[in-house]
Amino acid sequence: MSDFWAFTRYLYLKVLVTLSRLLIKLLASPQSSKLDYKLDIPSRDKNRTIKVHVYKPPVTETGSSTPAPVLINLYGSGLAIPLHGLDDDFCRFIADTTGYVVLDVNYCLAPEYPFPKALNDVEDTLKYVLDHPKEYQASRVSISGFSSGGTLALSASASLPRGTFTSLIAFYPATNLYQDPSLRKAPVPGGKDRSPFWTRIFRESYIRGMDARDPRISPAFADTTNFPSNMLIVTGELDASAIEAEELAERAKDEGHTTGREVIIRRMKGCGHAFDKKLTGEVSVKAKNETYELAAKILKNGLKVST
Ligand SMILES: *[C@@H]1O[C@H](CO)[C@@H](O)[C@H](O)[C@H]1NC(C)=O
Ligand SMILES: *[C@@H]1O[C@H](CO)[C@@H](O)[C@H](O)[C@H]1NC(C)=O
Repeated sequence: MSDFWAFTRYLYLKVLVTLSRLLIKLLASPQSSKLDYKLDIPSRDKNRTIKVHVYKPPVTETGSSTPAPVLINLYGSGLAIPLHGLDDDFCRFIADTTGYVVLDVNYCLAPEYPFPKALNDVEDTLKYVLDHPKEYQASRVSISGFSSGGTLALSASASLPRGTFTSLIAFYPATNLYQDPSLRKAPVPGGKDRSPFWTRIFRESYIRGMDARDPRISPAFADTTNFPSNMLIVTGELDASAIEAEELAERAKDEGHTTGREVIIRRMKGCGHAFDKKLTGEVSVKAKNETYELAAKILKNGLKVST
């Protein structure tokens, strides 16, 4: 009976998510035209590989080195919508200006691959990087993510040993998947709220029967000990996920104070969720420029010189 219920529920989620994938595909399909090449990374699932877009620093860049530092980037998907390639501008910019190789990871999606499959893909990508010391500098691996990709970046850094990542950059991440989406409010009114119905569908697709307070699902519940020494959390003042992201960042800052952790929280005025992907006016264009530049600075120099 409970198997039957679980399967019926899965079909329901699958139908809804498939519909929204089709709809989103009609509205926007990401163009990742600026990558250098594609890579297939082995997954721990025997019958699957993880597709990665690789952005290399220009060979002429002074200071570019082999092995190179690496940024593992995770796109925003609601953990269900295939939008790999959406961070093309960010990845190209970081590779061009910091000497980092950027690995933009097409982690697997729910409901077909529920928790912890996406997180496993992040760890398998990290393992691949550490297994290739001639290409990648193990002591300088950083992680970034947008929206649900930011959630994964936070979960991965909280659960992997301290020192795994040099820097963490998260743009408008959700950190608390336990709280009902309808209760979340943007710091400043006037934003376009995301639909609580769809947020719930995507969440359930990912979590299924798990407790959303698991810190690997909701980093808001994580011990902050393992977070990296450099963190940049970018939020938008019109975004309902801003406050939970800032609360976690504040806690990481307070609790990491004695260990020399530096945390920058940048709340962007006039910006909503995914402001750098919906360039609706001068405000978001400027905010995109400013936050990408800040991310690049932190990757290059750490936080102390960049503030
Ligand atoms: C492939 O792997 C997935 C998840 O690991 C599993 O559910 C599926 O049955 C496998 N498919 C085949 C053909 O082995
Ligand atoms: C930001 O703007 C400056 C000045 O126009 C430009 O040189 C730089 O490349 C821009 N950076 C990004 C990330 O777009």
